[in-house]
Amino acid sequence: MHPPRDRVCAVVWRQDALELLDQRKLPDTIIYRRLATVAEVIEAIRDMVVRGAPAIGIAAAYGVVLAARARYAENPTHWRKQIAADLAALATARPTAVNLVWALRRMERVIAATDGGPVERLLVEAQAIHAEDVAANRRMGELGAALLGERGAVLTHCNAGALATGGYGTALGVIRRGYERGLIERVYADETRPWLQGARLTAWELVQDGIPVTLLADGAAAALLRRGGIGWIIVGADRIAANGDVANKIGTYGLAVAARHHGVRFMVVAPVSTVDMNIASGADIPIEQRAAEELLTLGGQPVAAAGAEAWNPSFDVTPAALVDVLVTEHGVALAPDEGKMARLMAGA
Ligand code: MRU
Repeated sequence: MHPPRDRVCAVVWRQDALELLDQRKLPDTIIYRRLATVAEVIEAIRDMVVRGAPAIGIAAAYGVVLAARARYAENPTHWRKQIAADLAALATARPTAVNLVWALRRMERVIAATDGGPVERLLVEAQAIHAEDVAANRRMGELGAALLGERGAVLTHCNAGALATGGYGTALGVIRRGYERGLIERVYADETRPWLQGARLTAWELVQDGIPVTLLADGAAAALLRRGGIGWIIVGADRIAANGDVANKIGTYGLAVAARHHGVRFMVVAPVSTVDMNIASGADIPIEQRAAEELLTLGGQPVAAAGAEAWNPSFDVTPAALVDVLVTEHGVALAPDEGKMARLMAGA
């Protein structure tokens, strides 16, 4: 199964190498980086050339193909032993999004079952992971849009669109489908400090699709909810614990608190590859801390008083009790909890 082409392709396998749309450069510059080694893929994930939980997993899967090609050429007898170090290094490139480890486990199973040259079979698996993600997003788009109810505006945070996935998007998949069905009139997008995924990426995707988008500073979101007119907050996720707690981009938790206070419904959209049933609650989800420079500078220029320090967690955890609905490709859980998560994942 080949991954279908979408309007925006963040991750592309072309002529025996991985090409990543460099998301650090958007929206001004559209440039693909061509990667031919697993070390380059690890660096690209760490430096956020590619970002967004499902896209990270897909890129890592193609990274395993590159690793296998090199290791098998070096040593066709002991390549399995050598590639273990590559997989371990890939797994630590970014710690919060569990899709990375989930994709590596799938690739590992193929490695274990392969006799002879591994590259072709691993490429088939990576392409299946990619194509399945797009199909999951389309399905979630339908399921989520069906819940929206009366026409109105929605608010989203970070970028959970085509750029963050194999294509179409999770939260933006629901928004795309909801807009197509006439249920969404406008999208409010948090700019998403400090990396500006909302301003640079989500707004870019929506403008290209002709979906009306209004940007706001993250700190303006609560005031927007109080003003009224927002029916739903719709976000993606990086890891969902067995009790339904959700790790997503820093600022999501505050939005969920404000949403509950103002009676706005809160929807999380994520494929089952984002659910980590080995983690009992959000308290155990590893939260990536990123460099202080992301906060202390903007576009390379200092913006903070010299000498100030910075606290820069990249994600936060929203308790399941604040989530009104979780949409996965295997179905929907209203007010997710441990029991509902177990039933959802049993069907997955
Ligand atoms: O740091 P990022 O840009 O990788 O964070 C991305 C997010 O938090 C997204 O909301 C999440 O990965 C869902 S993407 C479908």
